Amino acid sequence: MPAVAITNLTKTYDGRTPALDAVSLEVAAEELLVLLGPSGCGKTTVLRCIAGLEEPTSGEIAIDGVVVNDLPPKDRDVAMVFQNYALYPHLSVRENIAFPLRMRREAKPEIARRVGETAAVLGLYPLLDRRPAELSGGERQRVALGRAIVRRPKVFLFDEPLSNLDAQLRVAMRAELVALHRRLRGTMIYVTHDQTEAMTMGQRIAVLDRGALRQVGTPAEVYARPASLFVATFIGTPGMNVVNGAAFARPADGSVGFRPEDGRLGPREGARWSAIVGLVEPLGSETLVHAKLESGETVVCRVREGEIPAVGSAVGIHVAAEKLHRFDVTGRRLP
Ligand SMILES: Nc1ncnc2c1ncn2[C@@H]1O[C@H](COP(=O)(O)OP(=O)(O)OP(=O)(O)O)[C@@H](O)[C@H]1O
Ligand SMILES: [Mg+2]
Repeated sequence: MPAVAITNLTKTYDGRTPALDAVSLEVAAEELLVLLGPSGCGKTTVLRCIAGLEEPTSGEIAIDGVVVNDLPPKDRDVAMVFQNYALYPHLSVRENIAFPLRMRREAKPEIARRVGETAAVLGLYPLLDRRPAELSGGERQRVALGRAIVRRPKVFLFDEPLSNLDAQLRVAMRAELVALHRRLRGTMIYVTHDQTEAMTMGQRIAVLDRGALRQVGTPAEVYARPASLFVATFIGTPGMNVVNGAAFARPADGSVGFRPEDGRLGPREGARWSAIVGLVEPLGSETLVHAKLESGETVVCRVREGEIPAVGSAVGIHVAAEKLHRFDVTGRRLP
């Protein structure tokens, strides 16, 4: 039985345009699923519907096999960490973490035991008597997590909890969250618009675009076989190169794509496309070469040191047949 089962979830805020359009998704018990998509695609709306903070226009949400549509948030046994988590500034770390248990009128010794356990898991012991103003951003974030996990809910919902942290801290917190997931064995739905975060954290990724679920799969599956042009170009840094019909005899055939690492620069003879080298971006371990095709389209190839061509030089772009992805005119992947 899935821990969370969403069936045909539709939500409109204004009675017309759907923020979510018939989304169906199952999250397995103890899974860490990442919900990924650009700003405004409906990620927060999905979480708020699961938490009971928003009423679905139609569709069903079940937690551990029980339909919860009519249950108030407090009876759903889920905990949500928001993008802009707010700690109580006048309360200590200890009191902040204890807060959800106090609200439930748990016994004092039990509260103390669970706060201790949570502080241990998150490495917050030395900070228990400080106030939020005396903590770094990452420490505050850990307290917000502590407040969510102290109840040991059935489902954790994380809404871009790392977005306020600097790049280095984000990477560290990502790893901490994955480790935390392993330790708690909880079911987690983690929302982000950052595809790198999704690829590194998720056991599976669900890609949402304009209120509709476009693909669900492991990071490797979604990367290797994107179901649509949207997924192909959204995932990867940079995303997949797309060459449109203009480069073919029959434009109606749709488009083809290839990953930057699957394009090799070489002689024009026998190349798939002829191109002129434009921008060359050295990134340290590798270099991105932007090249303009005869159709006017630009593609990016990832090349190693020693293979870097001169700006303005004429090159051929070689891509092995099995590394080409084909899409129809609507953007759907062709087998
Ligand atoms: N309370 C609301 N009233 C009206 N429209 C809303 C409301 N909340 C969200 N929307 C709209 O619903 C759509 C989905 O919003 P949502 O907040 O779920 O997106 P998101 O994927 O979380 O975006 P972001 O990455 O920017 O947080 C957007 O078009 C948004 O404008
Ligand atoms: Mg959001």
